[in-house]
Amino acid sequence: MSQNHTDPIPATDHAPVESLMHEHRLFAPSAEFVAQANVSDPAIYDEADADPEAWWASWAEKLSWVEPWTTVCEFNAPDAKWFVGGKLNVCYNCVDRHAEADPNRRAIVWEGEPGDDRTITFGELKDEISQLANALKAMGVGKGDRVSIYMPMVPELAMAMLACARIGAAHSVVFGGFTAESLQERTNDAQCKAIITADGGWRRGSAVPLLKITRAALELGCPTVEKVLVLRRTGMDEIDRHDERFVSWHHVVPEQSTDCPCEPMDSEDMLFILYTSGSTGKPKGVVHTTGGYLTGVSATAKLVFDLKPDDLHFCTADCGWITGHSYIVYGPLANGATVLMYEGAPDTPDKDRFWQIIEKHRATILYTAPTAIRTFMKWGDEYPNRCDLSSLRLLGSVGEPINPEAWIWYHETIGKGNCPLVDTWWQTETGAIMVTPLPGITVAKPGSATHPFPGISIRVLTEEGHGPDIRGPKAEPASSGFLVIDRPWPSMTRGIFGDHDRFIKTYWSRFDGKYFAGDGISLDEDGYLWLLGRVDDIMLVAGHNISTMEVESALVSHPAVAEAAVIGKTHDVKGQAISAFVTLRAGIHGDEALEKTLKKHVGEKIGPIARPDDIFFSAELPKTRSGKIMRRLLRDVAEGRALGDTTTLADPSVVNALKNVYEDKEG
Ligand code: WTA
Repeated sequence: MSQNHTDPIPATDHAPVESLMHEHRLFAPSAEFVAQANVSDPAIYDEADADPEAWWASWAEKLSWVEPWTTVCEFNAPDAKWFVGGKLNVCYNCVDRHAEADPNRRAIVWEGEPGDDRTITFGELKDEISQLANALKAMGVGKGDRVSIYMPMVPELAMAMLACARIGAAHSVVFGGFTAESLQERTNDAQCKAIITADGGWRRGSAVPLLKITRAALELGCPTVEKVLVLRRTGMDEIDRHDERFVSWHHVVPEQSTDCPCEPMDSEDMLFILYTSGSTGKPKGVVHTTGGYLTGVSATAKLVFDLKPDDLHFCTADCGWITGHSYIVYGPLANGATVLMYEGAPDTPDKDRFWQIIEKHRATILYTAPTAIRTFMKWGDEYPNRCDLSSLRLLGSVGEPINPEAWIWYHETIGKGNCPLVDTWWQTETGAIMVTPLPGITVAKPGSATHPFPGISIRVLTEEGHGPDIRGPKAEPASSGFLVIDRPWPSMTRGIFGDHDRFIKTYWSRFDGKYFAGDGISLDEDGYLWLLGRVDDIMLVAGHNISTMEVESALVSHPAVAEAAVIGKTHDVKGQAISAFVTLRAGIHGDEALEKTLKKHVGEKIGPIARPDDIFFSAELPKTRSGKIMRRLLRDVAEGRALGDTTTLADPSVVNALKNVYEDKEG
């Protein structure tokens, strides 16, 4: 297995930053949009900067608290506490208070892949969540416990998250595309007492066997799991009646009382854990707490998406990712908006499915990922053009840098030139959006995420920790470096579950006492920020974080493989695609059949999203004299570029041998 290492500043490895930054097309919001915007006065930036604690407290005050806080923020890097001493319940804030105001308003509009749909009002949502919460209690789940949620994108997934929040149990949502091993690893790391799952979920016309995979995870060993609650979605599988760990949702939930008080939680009590790829391969359980997280997501949802109670907010992410947590469930519902949830694939039954859904339900906001946008561009304009998208009033993008052509296409073809487009940079760890336009204020530049959200302090730092004050006097043009956040914010992660040392090492050590995000960033002469991609060993494949080490470990676990090095190579649609360089054990010959086997092996170990696109067999891997694999060179080889500096290589001939392998393969 390769050693882990961090590449130097990425500017030359990634998109042609210099040419990007000469983007001079500007898009100002229309007067009409500005007139109705939640915020249109740029003074908001200075106000927030002048007193960030007062700014965040003003947002926390919009929530409903059982007990007020005594101190806004206590920060002793890296440990932060927000709204110290305050008590509140997230489910109350997202559901009950809106149900009390108007039980008949829509909370969730859901569309199943086969075409079934469902609308749930705030009143109904409160009752169903309460029944589910009582069922969880009856299963022995209570305050302080953890629960894995492994479900398709059905309303019951959002209900499961909110039911946990209601009774003070922390959830750990595991994406439904992950394997039994991944579910087992996450469930055990978080020591979950229960798993909530479904028999299956629809994806591209076939049913994903979630219950079968859950059973496989239990067979691998999940010693802390006492109960498994199973929703019937597809009818493809039955619970194991002889095994008393399994409980049928349809038997226990409907018979529960709709009365279930919301547990008053300390502002710093854990709300959820969400696992994200780490550069050592083992996923990191990112912890978020109650008061600060809800403050961050509700403030950003309201200002970034200009969210109003009558909006229908369509975020196309899965709840297995942070985007689904913050901008399908918690942020929009905290604002009392209606969310649109879709179960399946964008090309089922046809490539216009998203546009059909928008037309059918009259969605007003669309939040999706650049990889999806590039796919839609490739499919052609006929699909969006045959649907009525006139209900849309705002577009958003998240997950990776959006290239200017994709930005323009999204703006013109989907937004018909009328919708502000917000390119939002943030992470699982930041909990909420950090760098973004404000749609009623910012003049957008295609490809730039523009400016920090009010109250957020972003720095562009060199290796040595120098960098301009980006809000100060005119910044040095084109300075680029590492994205660092040098002031605490309410929705910041409080740590990695069970591994505080790793938390400090990963995020807080590179620049002492400041948060190191792992992204490269650049500042142009107009003061606009440009994200340059990861600087560590995390790849962004179709917007999903996958660590090179994770894929390397999976490859090396195959008996044919001696050593593996994995890189993300530039890909038109997915942003990055996985290329693996593999040396085989003595006597084993690398051929097409083995290539297929290894791809399948990785898919089975981690999940289909981690399957390499290419596998190159090579006798040796290029290493520095200290034994580190030179990924930069592998990227050059994989992308067919002239090789960079090879002088630090222990054996420069290795690279030429590799190039030959590549050229043979590509013909
Ligand atoms: C990348 C997703 C450029 C970035 C919310 C970050 C982006 C990682 C953008 C976090 C964007 C996300 N422009 N890059 N607008 N949004 N990223 O944890 O590299 O799944 O560090 O959170 O995605 O991915 P995560």
